[in-house]
This record gives sequence, structure tokens and C-alpha cells, in this order.
Amino acid sequence: MNWIVTAGNLAASRLTKKPLLLASIEDLFFLQPVRIGDVVTVKAMVGYVGKTSLEAEVVVFCKPLHEEEKLCTRARMSFVSSDVHGKPVPIEQRIEPADEKEMKIYRYAKEIREGRLMRIAQRKQKVQDTNLEDIGQLSLRVYRLVFPEDAIYGNLMYGGKLLLILDEIMAIMAMKFAKGAIVTASLDALDFYHPIYVGNILVLATSLNYVGRSSMEIGVKVLAEDPVNNTVQHTCTAFSTCVKVDEHGRPR
Ligand SMILES: CC(C)(COP(=O)(O)OP(=O)(O)OC[C@H]1O[C@@H](n2cnc3c(N)ncnc32)[C@H](O)[C@@H]1OP(=O)(O)O)[C@@H](O)C(=O)NCCC(=O)NCCS
Repeated sequence: MNWIVTAGNLAASRLTKKPLLLASIEDLFFLQPVRIGDVVTVKAMVGYVGKTSLEAEVVVFCKPLHEEEKLCTRARMSFVSSDVHGKPVPIEQRIEPADEKEMKIYRYAKEIREGRLMRIAQRKQKVQDTNLEDIGQLSLRVYRLVFPEDAIYGNLMYGGKLLLILDEIMAIMAMKFAKGAIVTASLDALDFYHPIYVGNILVLATSLNYVGRSSMEIGVKVLAEDPVNNTVQHTCTAFSTCVKVDEHGRPR
């Protein structure tokens, strides 16, 4: 997940030449497993530019040694251009679709953005929702300190790093329940409501929400506590589906 965000961030920052914050990531489905030794190709492009935000698309292919290259995942995410404190700043650069193919990408990215607006309309209220009482019975609470190496610009935490942590914690929850190997099958659309700063304490409240035949839905609510100013913010809530697999990677 970190590679996907990094590719999107690189494509976006090549355009804006300014710090960018990962603002959201749309549903992410992992279509193929990537094994040690596979060659992975990650391609990213910007599809649409708004006032302070932009849409990026990332496609990931993997090529096992003796097999054809396969599509692993296609990710769509948005970034917001910001100053080093996380305050949105206008993007001066514009993009013009050059041909029909680019026009299709542009229209689709615009559609995704419009579809998201309703989902993020309550974002200011969501930041205040720091209640952890609604976390299910089967839960795991993890605390982490945000270090300088977790940051990307100044003291702002990097979104790719947070996704890496979320994936690990959700996998631990799934493995502890399933008592076996698991893979991450998908990550639901995820919106980031508030920046996380170096020195914050992350509270990762994880719960097992649903168990199917071989799949499990895991949720994690992320709070960022500022121990100096005694404040706490809800920064995002993620949901992923993990699948228990056998030694050949088949669901069991
Ligand atoms: C993204 C963020 C800067 C937006 O702040 P805000 O106060 O809502 O800002 P605004 O209302 O001025 O909106 C600015 C733009 O962001 C877009 N936006 C806001 N929240 C968004 C979200 N979660 N997903 C996608 N776009 C978002 C708005 O649509 C607007 O776009 P436009 O200017 O192109 O029309 C703020 O929510 C934030 O800091 N989130 C955390 C980001 C982060 O730290 N990510 C890494 C986590 S480790």
C-alpha cells in the first residue's frame, strides 16, 4: 500500500511542486497475490485537478518469473496541496486531456471526486468523533508514537506510512482470530479528516466486525492525541477484508 501511495504522491507532486497530503483513497481490491521474487510495476498519473485537491490513479502489475504480467490492483486516490502545517493551498497548475483516452480518465476522475463530496461532507464533525465506546467486543487497541521518520513534509505524517501501519494491525487482528495465514483482499474507501503530526500518539482501535466462511471484516478507528496540548482528533476509520488462506494461497 505504501508503494501505491508513494507512486500517486510522486506523480502528483511532479505536477504541483508543493507538499501534498493524502486526503482519500477509494475502494482498493487486491486481484492477485504478489509473491517474493515477482517483478512489480507501479504506474501513476494525475487525472483531474481541482482548486486545492487533485485525483491520481495508480495501476500495479506483477510479473512472476515464468508467467505473464498480471494486473494486481488499480487504486484511485486524492491529494490536497498544502503548506507544511497541513493548510490547503491552491494548485496553480492545470491539466488538459490531450486525446480521447486522457479525456476518459479525466471524466472518470471528476466523477469519482463528485461521488466523494457527499461522503466527506461531514468531515469537520467526524474529526470531533473521538468516542471509542462503539468499538466491538473482539478488539485490539494499539498505541504508537509518531516519529520524524514517519513524516513526509515538515512534521506531517506520511499517508503511505499510516496505511502500512493500518494494514499490519488489521492483519494481526485477523491472524489472531483465524489462527493461520491471511491475505488482505480489499480496503474500503478511506478518508483522512485531520493531519497527524510528529510527536502525536496514535490510538488504533481495531475490531473484528464480521466473519464469513474464509473472510473477515476488520475495522480500525484512528485517533491522534497531542500529549503537549492535551487534544485528540479522529483522523480516519478504515475497513478491510482479510481472507484466511492455506499454504498455496487458496481461501480455506
Ligand atoms: C485534506 C484536508 C487538508 C482538507 O482540509 P479541509 O479543512 O477539509 O479543507 P477544505 O474544506 O478547504 O477543502 C480543501 C479541498 O480538499 C478536498 N477534501 C477535503 N477533505 C477531503 C477528503 N477526505 N478526501 C478528498 N478530498 C478532500 C475538498 O473537496 C477541497 O477540494 P478543492 O479545493 O479541490 O475543491 C484535511 O482534511 C486533512 O488535513 N486531512 C488529513 C490529511 C493527512 O494528513 N493525510 C495523511 C494521514 S497520515
